[in-house]
Amino acid sequence: MTSNKAAWIKGPGSLVEVETVEKWVPGGGELLVQVEAVNFNPIDAKLQRSNIFQPQFPIIVGFTFAGTVTSTGPDVISVKPGDRVVVARWGQTGSDNKFGALQKYALALEENTLKLEPEISFEDASGVIANLATVVSALNIYMGLSLPPITGKALPNGKRVLVYGGSSAVGGLAVKYASDAGYEVVTTSSTANKKLVEERNAAHIIDHCQPKEDLLRELRGHGPYEGIFEAIGSQTTTQLVVELLRETGGQFFSTSPSPGDGQIPNNVQKKWAGYSETLASQEANRELRAWYLERYLPEALKNRSVWPNPALWLKGGLNSTQEALDLLYDGKVSGKKIFLNPQD
Ligand SMILES: NC(=O)c1ccc[n+]([C@@H]2O[C@H](COP(=O)([O-])OP(=O)(O)OC[C@H]3O[C@@H](n4cnc5c(N)ncnc54)[C@H](OP(=O)(O)O)[C@@H]3O)[C@@H](O)[C@H]2O)c1
Repeated sequence: MTSNKAAWIKGPGSLVEVETVEKWVPGGGELLVQVEAVNFNPIDAKLQRSNIFQPQFPIIVGFTFAGTVTSTGPDVISVKPGDRVVVARWGQTGSDNKFGALQKYALALEENTLKLEPEISFEDASGVIANLATVVSALNIYMGLSLPPITGKALPNGKRVLVYGGSSAVGGLAVKYASDAGYEVVTTSSTANKKLVEERNAAHIIDHCQPKEDLLRELRGHGPYEGIFEAIGSQTTTQLVVELLRETGGQFFSTSPSPGDGQIPNNVQKKWAGYSETLASQEANRELRAWYLERYLPEALKNRSVWPNPALWLKGGLNSTQEALDLLYDGKVSGKKIFLNPQD
């Protein structure tokens, strides 16, 4: 039997170590997947080097992956060995290393797995499943925006939203999703990524690299906004949106806490959540989760009405995990989604 290998982070700040591990045996409702595409998210790098989330080390990071089912446990009915699947590591699997994406063979929960038709690439599916869940949760559950139709676009509803950071993985998906739901979407990008963002049907794209006062003037000029989704979650972007709201007051939804959040003035509220987990795991959101995973996502992947930022594949398999984490931590990812194949 083939052995298994995993990329571990053994303690806070420790560099990644690739080691042989057990080849896990799936239990009830679980499957074992030969992982062929792992995509990286900034959280992977934050878990290694920031103390915001305080994980229990050692950890195998990686929260979304795609590959081929090699075996299934008792009671699994929706997939069988040989099926191509995409997996999001939601619920209790998020802290169970057997389910970590950065392995040659990872366990998955059937309920967190979507079977893929042959025409859907591992890149598209794994680049979208969790990041788009984040968007659905933030925009629909938290911001109260309306849903898009399963296919096509809703008629314009005359409401304007701001997605700050439209060239990021989450921001780009949010621009397209809100635009398909009928909103006029104002967003930002660097010049280098403007074309990527245009393809997502933004109504206005503001250059976020221009001097701060000019940027604020343009953002104010396109408002007021029905809702603000700040998709970068850094201290800089938080301060900018706080500045935007300082005179009028108001709330915005961000993707991450950041240093200095304690100094936000009382008339401005920054809100954030572990959005995709709220959608996937909270009982109150069961219906929306089913709409997303069983209806919207399969159709959106098939029609390619949603897509991730272009892939940057690192060579070297699991041995390139640290390189991926460094690129993310150093802010060197621009308009790209990083992938590796543990089978390399
Ligand atoms: N809460 C949740 O549930 C959740 C879920 C997923 C992600 N997140 C968080 O969401 C954030 C974004 O994640 P991601 O995967 O979308 O990131 P990403 O794609 O890796 O972000 C890279 C992009 O950020 C943009 N950027 C960097 N600094 C910026 C600034 N000052 N202003 C505007 N844009 C800036 C860059 O745009 P340009 O190159 O065009 O300048 C770059 O393309 C991260 O903090 C992540 O941890 C949270």
